[in-house]
Amino acid sequence: MRVALCGLGRAGSELARALVDHPDIQLAAGFCRPRSIHVGMDIGEFANIPFTGVTACDVTEAYEVLAKHKIDVVIDFSSPVASKAILKACRSCGIGIVVCTTGFTIAEIRWMKFLASNREFGIVYAPNVTLGVNVLMSMVKIAAQKLPDYDFHVTEMHHRYKKDIPSATAKCIVNALENELHGYTDPVQIHSVRAGGYVGYHEVLIVGDYERILVVHESFSRRAFVEGALTAARFIKERRGFFQMDDVLVKVQKENQLAEMQLAFSTA
Ligand SMILES: NC(=O)c1ccc[n+]([C@@H]2O[C@H](COP(=O)([O-])OP(=O)(O)OC[C@H]3O[C@@H](n4cnc5c(N)ncnc54)[C@H](OP(=O)(O)O)[C@@H]3O)[C@@H](O)[C@H]2O)c1
Repeated sequence: MRVALCGLGRAGSELARALVDHPDIQLAAGFCRPRSIHVGMDIGEFANIPFTGVTACDVTEAYEVLAKHKIDVVIDFSSPVASKAILKACRSCGIGIVVCTTGFTIAEIRWMKFLASNREFGIVYAPNVTLGVNVLMSMVKIAAQKLPDYDFHVTEMHHRYKKDIPSATAKCIVNALENELHGYTDPVQIHSVRAGGYVGYHEVLIVGDYERILVVHESFSRRAFVEGALTAARFIKERRGFFQMDDVLVKVQKENQLAEMQLAFSTA
């Protein structure tokens, strides 16, 4: 699979590092901000890896670059402005994209769904791309169904440079909780902390009069984002339409079940 990266900052560079010597995924192109000092540089020069042979390009040239390098999937960790440019190029070229960028408005997310609705290409919209945080979401939904009169509080902690506050993941968790609570309790509060080098921490505190449940997800390294993004990239390569990480997880679960059945069959 030939992958292009949109955004070559903290997360994009971690992805580039993971793709060095990857057995079946090749880094084939990378995009950065117009007039960025990185335009024209080998990605290895600033991602702290050996020479890759892949030059960073201005995102406004995305259409030509995607077509020229026969890209299968784009993985986007950039900004909403860059994401919109790369999404248009992906649609024109019929190339799938995993959008991990956060900070979109509701209208922009609606536009993304509209763009994918004619099924000319596929989008995984993944404001929370780690597999674990999506499992946390399922766990707290069960708690909300079973304990609707408990108090729910969401805390998120990220590094000091993270721009959007609260995090898109925290908003998704609250959305999921409130859908289950049906206005049963007061609105779920989000507590945000921007400090130091936190990679990504989400906590849901569920409190009754005499007990509490604490569900925590913490990414120790940006490698957690990389693994989720690559799983989503494999998912979207052959698909068209609009998807989210829930859809990716269902596929992963089915593959695991199939592998277990094959193992049981072969050892029977
Ligand atoms: N979905 C998830 O689970 C997840 C996980 C981690 C991060 N994220 C999101 O991914 C995004 C990037 O995170 P990060 O930590 O890697 O940030 P970062 O270090 O600031 O990197 C952002 C990258 O995007 C580029 N960029 C910004 N505006 C652009 C534009 N208009 N055109 C082209 N390129 C542009 C920047 O280029 P310059 O260097 O030239 O400014 C930079 O390379 C953020 O929205 C973050 O919240 C999501």
